[in-house]
Amino acid sequence: MEVDRRAFIASLGGVAAVNLMSHEAKAEALEHYMEEKLDEMVAAQQPEKFPTVAEIEAQIETRPYRRGAGSVFTSNKGNVKIIEKMPDKPTLHDFFRLRFAPANHVLQSATRAMKTGMSEEIVLACLLHDCVLSLIKPDHGWWGAQLFEPYIPEKSAFAIRYHQTLRFYADDDAGYEYPDQYYRIFGHDYQPPQYIADTYKMLKNHKWYMEPRLVTVNDLYAFDPNAKVSIDPFEDIIGRHFKQPKEGLGYDNSPSAHMWRTLARPDNPL
Ligand SMILES: [Fe+2]
Ligand SMILES: [Fe+2]
Repeated sequence: MEVDRRAFIASLGGVAAVNLMSHEAKAEALEHYMEEKLDEMVAAQQPEKFPTVAEIEAQIETRPYRRGAGSVFTSNKGNVKIIEKMPDKPTLHDFFRLRFAPANHVLQSATRAMKTGMSEEIVLACLLHDCVLSLIKPDHGWWGAQLFEPYIPEKSAFAIRYHQTLRFYADDDAGYEYPDQYYRIFGHDYQPPQYIADTYKMLKNHKWYMEPRLVTVNDLYAFDPNAKVSIDPFEDIIGRHFKQPKEGLGYDNSPSAHMWRTLARPDNPL
């Protein structure tokens, strides 16, 4: 076991205090310190205790907002802040910078998809799969697909819509396990509702099953939190597959234009 010398000396009251100690006292202190550290390491390896569905439900009335509100509309640290205005003809990049930011999770998922040689449709789907969480969280697969559908390939929209369902079902062959994150946020005894179970049944026999499945495979939370990611490596894929409207997102009369406008002006009272 490695000893952090500085932490060890500090735990004894600093260098001056250590200098006053006898050789035996120092040896004993070190042994004691290492025992404590070992206990800490063992404790850290205990399996995490996940909440139950009932415990999660009991938290509802402890918050001033609902868990399903999009991240642009709430703050879990005091009041919300003034949000920067969108340009007149906003692009996907503008939304990434001003409304989806920091977007680490989707950028890291897309980076992984690119590294593992996924098709461009899947890399794009990974890049966009959770962006709608800025707007709304429940059923984010369906909302996300609807937001992007007018602008992206059909396969990418299909992958975004159904990744939400497949996240609840392990697939050993594809290398996808049920995520600990879901035990944490839904409760360890959670059962997905019937419409999710029915959607899964439909997907299992669908010729495009692997499209949303590959989003789930690349949809990980265990990335290095310090990894530096940016949208730059995806420029070409966005250029080839994302139909940026010349009027700007929100002003092209597409079926999801209003969703972009709501994201652009989250402080509008109506
Ligand atoms: Fe998701
Ligand atoms: Fe995700």
